[in-house]
Amino acid sequence: MTMKNTSLKNSNHSLVVAIDGPAGAGKSTISTRLAEMLGYLYIDTGAMYRAVAYLVAQRGLNPEDEPALNILCRELQIDLVATDDGLKVYAMGEDVSRQIRTPEISQLTPRVAASPAVRFCLLREQRKLGEQGRVVLEGRDIGTVVFPDAQVKFFLCASAEERGRRRYAELQQKGIEADLEKTIAAVSERDLADMNRAQAPLKQATDAVVVDSTRMTIDEVLALMERVVRERERTDGEIGDKSGTVEK
Ligand code: DC
Repeated sequence: MTMKNTSLKNSNHSLVVAIDGPAGAGKSTISTRLAEMLGYLYIDTGAMYRAVAYLVAQRGLNPEDEPALNILCRELQIDLVATDDGLKVYAMGEDVSRQIRTPEISQLTPRVAASPAVRFCLLREQRKLGEQGRVVLEGRDIGTVVFPDAQVKFFLCASAEERGRRRYAELQQKGIEADLEKTIAAVSERDLADMNRAQAPLKQATDAVVVDSTRMTIDEVLALMERVVRERERTDGEIGDKSGTVEK
């Protein structure tokens, strides 16, 4: 598998910023904007799982067929490319940025993400992508499994009611009919599934900074997170970058 991302900018720091949290907490928006503010590389690990799910669907594979997923992983090629229009996701050279966001792929992805073969393969790639530092990695298991030694860890959350309301507003905006109570219930159900799965369950790292965005605007959340990272950059600089496990 190869990956490329062209958004890397020069910076003196080599921090790894991990952002985990449940679905619908605003992780993608926040992670994208935070990476932009910092001049760091943004790695959307959920998009990587979605890209694998897309290939599973395209090839008609059974997401529970480990040997088949193993073979797929051996030839897997996923590219993340930062563009002015946001992050583009390529699977085997095909731009799948839009296709990986369909309800069908959203439903299939947790099943594919439960595969040990897929997790093993993407874990290796995520570590490779992040090992240089100056990265914001967004996912469910970044601070606990992928980069347990990340210098900055955030756990971004909001109440299930609030996340359900945001999702409902989003659907309404797109002209998609939905029921508020059912949307909130679906969010809670997904939380339970994410927290109780055997492979890399959603779990808050003990050393994560918890940011509850229930009553905060995106700008307030970003300002708080930027402050935390800048402070860590400052102390990291003072101790000459010797504290982290990330090598330059
Ligand atoms: O963040 P998202 O909705 O794009 O994630 C898509 C799916 O991938 C979701 O079911 C959770 C899963 N995922 C995961 O298991 N581990 C990650 N590090 C990121 C996402």
